[in-house]
Amino acid sequence: MHVLVTGGAGFLGSHLCDALLAEGHSVVCADNLLTGSRDNIGHLAHEPRFEFREQDVCRPFDFGKTDYVFHLASPASPEDYLEHAIATLQAGSLGTMHCLELAKKYRAKFLLASTSECYGDPLEHPQKESYWGHVNPVGPRSVYDEAKRFAEALTMAYRRYEQVDTRIVRIFNTYGPRLQLNDGRVISNFMKQALGGEDLTVYGDGSQTRSFCYVSDEIAGILALATSDEPEPTNIGNPDEFTILECARVVLEVTGSHSNIRYEPLPKDDPKQRCPDISKAKRLLGWEPKIDLRAGLGMSLDYFRAAVQSGQASAS
Ligand SMILES: NC(=O)c1ccc[n+]([C@@H]2O[C@H](COP(=O)([O-])OP(=O)(O)OC[C@H]3O[C@@H](n4cnc5c(N)ncnc54)[C@H](O)[C@@H]3O)[C@@H](O)[C@H]2O)c1
Repeated sequence: MHVLVTGGAGFLGSHLCDALLAEGHSVVCADNLLTGSRDNIGHLAHEPRFEFREQDVCRPFDFGKTDYVFHLASPASPEDYLEHAIATLQAGSLGTMHCLELAKKYRAKFLLASTSECYGDPLEHPQKESYWGHVNPVGPRSVYDEAKRFAEALTMAYRRYEQVDTRIVRIFNTYGPRLQLNDGRVISNFMKQALGGEDLTVYGDGSQTRSFCYVSDEIAGILALATSDEPEPTNIGNPDEFTILECARVVLEVTGSHSNIRYEPLPKDDPKQRCPDISKAKRLLGWEPKIDLRAGLGMSLDYFRAAVQSGQASAS
């Protein structure tokens, strides 16, 4: 297949490009490098089936015949979407529309990378796909949450009214090599602090929960959904739930760090619990994650160590 991956120079997008190339497809990666990096795809520079196009998907574009569009382009971490608030709303709206128009033109399949943030600060736990969410539509995080909810609505509308063959994956917290070190997410924060000899920052009392999916599990789930016939949103994530404090302890253990834990106030609208119900993905796709947090952090250690060292070298 000729596959287009938007946001392909980002963390998840670059791993998706790797997996699609490994399956024998040709891949065009479209990315404006807003939050991604050429470093993430540097290893593909001499791959003849891979092409990088510097492109903002919020502007119309067309790179020719495409069989599958994977639309991942969007700032994704709190740090990034708060800094690029308008660009985030545009990526979810205009960007998604341009990608759907392309899929319509070439009769290509389309997969939207959506998010667990569609559930907001959930009142139902764990979150099933049937839960409609509890989102503050005007709070600071709404630029991301509502952009993705709009993107889901747009995707379903192109399916219903324009006959585009669509899929929607609701991705839950994913980590692994190439995760940006300064993205403000729990794992990158803790790994950076633990390996840099700083205190680990825990917001609130650390009793809020998160679940963490290793990147190879997430990509396997996305690809399983992509080849299925399931049009409705599908959760892909790891249901093992950790309090933030437990997670901090696992990071200290895996890194062998002697850092302490420092407490700071909770940011606005920070979800108290976040954990996917993946029974649908298990039943429908025969997919479930295989890699637990300790193992995944162990496999990410070399990457984070190198990233911390190069950050410290460039700061000095
Ligand atoms: N990593 C996670 O835990 C997670 C969780 C839920 C959802 N997601 C979704 O997965 C996708 C990828 O996230 P990620 O973690 O790899 O983030 P990332 O920031 O590493 O990657 C996003 C990529 O999109 C690119 N991009 C942003 N706006 C663009 C635009 N207008 N035109 C072209 N490219 C643009 C960025 O430059 C970057 O390379 C996002 O859509 C995100 O919402 C990720």
